Amino acid sequence: MSIDNEKDLAALRRVGRLVALTLQHMGKVMRPGMTTFELDAIGRAMLVRAGARPAPELVYGFPGATCISVDDEAAHGIPGPRVLREGELVNIDVSAELDGYYGDTGASFPVGAVSEQKARLCAATRNALARGLAVARAGAPINGYGRVVENEARRHGFEVIHNLAGHGVGRALHEEPHDVASHFERRNKSRFAEGTVLTLEPFLSTGARRVTTAADGWTQKTPDRSVTAQYEHTIVITRSRPIVLTAC
Ligand code: CO
Ligand code: CO
Repeated sequence: MSIDNEKDLAALRRVGRLVALTLQHMGKVMRPGMTTFELDAIGRAMLVRAGARPAPELVYGFPGATCISVDDEAAHGIPGPRVLREGELVNIDVSAELDGYYGDTGASFPVGAVSEQKARLCAATRNALARGLAVARAGAPINGYGRVVENEARRHGFEVIHNLAGHGVGRALHEEPHDVASHFERRNKSRFAEGTVLTLEPFLSTGARRVTTAADGWTQKTPDRSVTAQYEHTIVITRSRPIVLTAC
C-alpha cells in the first residue's frame, strides 16, 4: 500500500511494533530442548492477547502462527515436534493483522553458542539489511538495494538467495510491489516510490543461491544443506531514510 494519511501510519506503527516485540520475545525465550511448536505457541499467545491475528494461517492456511526455520531451512518452516539444539541457527518470521493492517518482520537467532561461520553469516546479513535500508529512498532504483546487499554478501564470502524477496505489505500480507529482489537484477528498472510500504528481507547463505520447497509443501530449504540467515523489516519509503515500522 501507499500511505497517504496519519491514520494509516499510526495503524501500521501499532501492528509493526507488535510483531517486532513478539519476534524479540520469542528470540529471548528460545532455548535448547524447546520444540518449535512450543516457541510458536509463545508467539501466538502474544499476538492474540493484543487482538491481532497471525497472518500466515489467516492468509495462506499455514499450519502455525509464525514461521520457524532451522539451519538449512530458510523460510516457511512449520512449527512442530522438532527439538531445538545448541549450535543451531533459528529464523523466526512473525507477521500479523491488526485492525485491517499487516506487519511483517523476521530475524535469525543462534541457539546457545554457534559456529564461527554461523555467527559471521548473521553479522553479514544484518549489515546487508542495514546497507539496504540506507539506499531505499524515493526515486532510487530497487536494484540498487539488491546491489548493496549482494556486495555485502560477497565481501564476506556468502551468497544471496535469489528466489526469496521483499514485498509490498500493509492492507494485505503480500501486495505490490511483489519482487523486491535482494540481489542485483540488471534489467530491473523499477524505483522506490514515496509512501510505499514494503519489506526488505535479504536472505544470505553459506552456499546456495536458490531454495526449493520441501516435501511438506511449505518449508523453503537449500538443496545443498547450506545454512541461511534472514533479517526483515517493514518500512515506509520516504525522500530520506525509510521509516522502520518494525523496530522496537
Ligand atoms: Co516475514
Ligand atoms: Co515478508
